[in-house]
Amino acid sequence: MELALSPEQEEIRRLAHDFAVKEVKPRAQAIDQDHEFPQDLVDKASQLGLLGILVPEEYGGAGLDHLSFAIVIEEIARFCASTAVIIDVHTSVGTEPIALFGTAEQKRRWLPDLASGKRLAAFALTEADAGSDAAHLKTTATRRDGGYELNGAKMFITNAGHAGLYVVMAATAPGKGAEGISAFVVEGANPGITVGPPFEKMGLNGSAISEVRFDRCQVPSTDRLGMEGDGFKVAMRALDSGRIGISAQAIGLAQGALDDALAYARERKQFGKPIGDFQTIQNKIADMAVKVSAARWLTWATAARCDRGEAFTKEASMTKLFATDSAMEVTLEALQVLGGYGYLEEYPMARRVRDAKACQIYEGTNQIQRVVIARELLRAS
Ligand code: CAA
Repeated sequence: MELALSPEQEEIRRLAHDFAVKEVKPRAQAIDQDHEFPQDLVDKASQLGLLGILVPEEYGGAGLDHLSFAIVIEEIARFCASTAVIIDVHTSVGTEPIALFGTAEQKRRWLPDLASGKRLAAFALTEADAGSDAAHLKTTATRRDGGYELNGAKMFITNAGHAGLYVVMAATAPGKGAEGISAFVVEGANPGITVGPPFEKMGLNGSAISEVRFDRCQVPSTDRLGMEGDGFKVAMRALDSGRIGISAQAIGLAQGALDDALAYARERKQFGKPIGDFQTIQNKIADMAVKVSAARWLTWATAARCDRGEAFTKEASMTKLFATDSAMEVTLEALQVLGGYGYLEEYPMARRVRDAKACQIYEGTNQIQRVVIARELLRAS
């Protein structure tokens, strides 16, 4: 299998790298400290076409593959994981389900705005009592006046309050579990939606995560995504490629940490020589570099598999598990290389540790990834 980047993928990497270095890096510290949603960076990324990477060209997107998507998210996450997850959630779980499961009319109606960044997308599956057990939703969608009425509340919704469209999973046949769930696209401006205040979190301070309530929220039948009862599969397929994006975010965090640890190990002198001359630091650098490279190759292989149209559920979970656990380990080790300076908030290392933790939790905890991997292996003949 060929895993070298094509000229197009190299080009998108250069574009994303320049954007990350020139625009994202100088803003990252303030975004974290001020807990500021980086609308300016989302707008600049939109102008570069980075919000429509996975949208087909006929709907105004770049029509690129999942490997390109992973490269873009990694480059941005090297400097700001908040900006990366906003763009990641918009691109994968927010927009991709419409491209994959939408009718021609739905695609024409929504994809151009999502590709241009005129509207941001969000994905509303999780509820207060339905996190890992995503099939047992309490939000209902009841048929009413030729459409549906949605009632219930979604929890931990990334891009809440900033999204112009929400992909929402709700029970059309309550009590039937996965089979009773349907997916809907709900406009952010729908008067039946109320967004709670952003949660105070441990990290990812620039990314807005809130509760989203649906109170007698009227949605036309034409805004249902897929058939009634297909919603759980829509969500699971969205999460499969979403996990490629979260893996890329984790790799960006880890690569950024490794870059800073290397620079510090070259410059910082103790006992009369750079600390990089000591084997105890060299061991850390080597172990970090191996984890970053292995996570990247795994992510690229899974993205390539997805792009070839092969099943990739198990591979996406393996990738997410390995890349996000590696990001946690690498950011902590890199912080240790910086010693006391790593512990100060004026350097980006502590932020990276706080941000990396989220990657082990969202888009399926790493315990759920193990469940998916083991089930797929045991099921295989
Ligand atoms: N693709 C397509 N279909 C799938 C699928 C996949 N990856 N996984 C399961 N399905 C199908 C199954 O084939 C089955 O269909 P059939 O009955 O026709 O065979 C149906 O869906 C039900 O599947 P399961 O029996 O496996 O369902 P389950 O209730 O046992 O749950 C689970 C499986 C894997 C644990 C699932 O609930 C899960 O992934 N949980 C984690 C949810 C999650 O990742 N949440 C993240 C929230 S979003 C977020 O974090 C985004 C953000 O903002 C950053």
